[in-house]
Amino acid sequence: MDASEGPPDVDRPADKGRFSEAHSAEVVAASFASATDPRLRQILSSLVHHLHAFVKDVELTEPEWELAIDFLTRTGHRSDDRRQEFILLSDVLGISMLVETINHRTGGRSTESTVLGPFHMVASPPRGLGDSIALDGKGTPCLVSGRVTGPDREPIPGARLDVWQANADGFYDVQQPDVQPELNLRGLFTADDEGRYWFRSIVPRYYPIPDDGPVGELLAATGRHPYRPAHLHFIVSANGYRPVTTHVFVADSPYLDSDAVFGVKDSLIRDVAEVDDPDRAAAAGLPNPFRALAFDPVLLRETTTP
Ligand SMILES: [Fe+2]
Repeated sequence: MDASEGPPDVDRPADKGRFSEAHSAEVVAASFASATDPRLRQILSSLVHHLHAFVKDVELTEPEWELAIDFLTRTGHRSDDRRQEFILLSDVLGISMLVETINHRTGGRSTESTVLGPFHMVASPPRGLGDSIALDGKGTPCLVSGRVTGPDREPIPGARLDVWQANADGFYDVQQPDVQPELNLRGLFTADDEGRYWFRSIVPRYYPIPDDGPVGELLAATGRHPYRPAHLHFIVSANGYRPVTTHVFVADSPYLDSDAVFGVKDSLIRDVAEVDDPDRAAAAGLPNPFRALAFDPVLLRETTTP
């Protein structure tokens, strides 16, 4: 026997799968090898490899590790049924948009999706076509209308539109439970027999994501602002079609080019023009003049392959 190989009963860490700097990722990933769910095994193995590569890349110090643990701990403590700091963290890191984009590739055949965001945490109340969702009487009146169609522009009767937005001061109802009426600026609408919908609201305003928690500290420490451009949230769904979660952005809003959560897509930007038409205003139940936002969601059929 060649003496350099050592006797067969001597421990050889690499062979025995012991942890080392050089082999850390492989050793830890191997510990998940017996996971019976192959997808879980794939995700954990990839996660471990990327995390270990990251720690080695930056040569993370112990104080930095402790700071990260503290940051994540406080992120959890800041989350409850009315505030989701982890979604905010995912949003400002661009992870939410990446997951959304990967999972809703449209090939240009339907309305593009964007992030759900952290404020869809209560069920929107069913409302009738033409109803107002602005319960607090503030803001610039706006008529929101359009038609829901399929990929061949066929109308989708009975399509459902779940909408929510911030108020004129840039806050969602759940952020101001003592200030705004409950379920202010939320509504669940059902399109008519020709796929049309319309309701009254206000012109959305740009707003900061909640920046008084750990995620706000992260933005401040890196010189990033917390603002999102003005938008109205939609989840549009219909039987036989794929639902789409998206926003409509107001064309003249600040921050369209620097959305704190990277949610803007050019195809989702709309003019919210002033309309001076007393008859139309009276028919809609709005003061004249008013603003109008037109948005025609296009859904893919459920059977369409991405
Ligand atoms: Fe929003």
